[in-house]
Amino acid sequence: MPQTALRSNPEEFLAQAQETLGPTMEQASTLPPACFTDPAFYAREVEDIFKKEWLCVGHVGQIPNVGDYFTTDLFEEPIVITRDRDGQVHALSAVCRHRWMPVIDGAGNTKTLSCPYHRWTYALDGQLMAAPLMEGAEDFDPKACRLPTYALELWHGWIFVSMDPAATSLAARVPTLTAELAPWHIEEMDVVGPIEYDSPFNWKVLVDNFMEGYHHLAIHAETFEPPHPAKLTYVDPVEEPYSVLRIPTRDGSPMETTFPVVEGLTDRQRREFSVFNLYPNHLFAVFPDYAAWYQFELKSVDRFNLKIFLLAPKGTKDDPARADTLTGMQDMARVIHEEDIIACEGAQKGLMSATAAPGRLSLLERAIWEHHGWILERLGAQVPA
Ligand code: FES
Ligand SMILES: [Fe+2]
Repeated sequence: MPQTALRSNPEEFLAQAQETLGPTMEQASTLPPACFTDPAFYAREVEDIFKKEWLCVGHVGQIPNVGDYFTTDLFEEPIVITRDRDGQVHALSAVCRHRWMPVIDGAGNTKTLSCPYHRWTYALDGQLMAAPLMEGAEDFDPKACRLPTYALELWHGWIFVSMDPAATSLAARVPTLTAELAPWHIEEMDVVGPIEYDSPFNWKVLVDNFMEGYHHLAIHAETFEPPHPAKLTYVDPVEEPYSVLRIPTRDGSPMETTFPVVEGLTDRQRREFSVFNLYPNHLFAVFPDYAAWYQFELKSVDRFNLKIFLLAPKGTKDDPARADTLTGMQDMARVIHEEDIIACEGAQKGLMSATAAPGRLSLLERAIWEHHGWILERLGAQVPA
């Protein structure tokens, strides 16, 4: 168990944490509790991981029309996602170039981004169009003024933003995952939700929970365990920066479905559902007939806002005959997540205890071990040869 405080000797701390994880799954333990509770570790994650990676902020289905927008905060940076007159999606800083007021908040449809403070008005691609009463300001050229843009990539319809202008293509990093998801045409699905939760625990507590089916036997004893027993869940080995957990049916029969089954699925894909973590924390699940994702907005080492979205076949959302079905599916997502909250809040409480120590992992928890190892590597821990 690491004795070295991260602050006093970061390299030594990371080396000890690496040792704690263990060289093989059979010997594996979790990260040390400090990695979940120490604000200094969280600060390293923000700087060395979140500000360098692709982060999912939403889905194109939230901005289907010209002028649609929504805002979000990425580590205190106010960001607005817009669809401009040409249908292009942009990720812009919402910070006004005049005196810093966020030019827009919330979500909706607009022709321009018009700052509420002094009405500097920007086009949907961030270009300043008008600034009232600026006559006489020497060398002030509105055409040379625009809201800063962030790197943006649309991947299966999800909108990914990177705060690193040099970020390399996300799709190219995960070719296997990109290919596996193709049959779902997630980019065309209807976005349903969100269901929102203020989540008073470290972000990895939820990621760890999402990526193992071991807890079905207790936390979901009456919901997931009967149709999808813990002991049948397994993790596929992957070489790319994501993990996948497979969750088969108890008797190997095809999953029950609400909507028509996605075309082109294999028999295996009909007998199980799969949950993914595209690192660092794009959590999603694909079922034979729909999908879902968990959207994080991180606030601090022990708090984030969570939005749970469902993805239903195109046209479902506007079909009155499907309204009750969608409500029922959201209710079920709530039931499952509220069971998971019990686990996450419990784990967070325990992590704060002086007695907390790295815990041995079941082989069913391979995805946790993979993700913890990736985090340490990204923070600069030397991976043993
Ligand atoms: S701060 Fe935006 S117009 Fe002044
Ligand atoms: Fe769960």
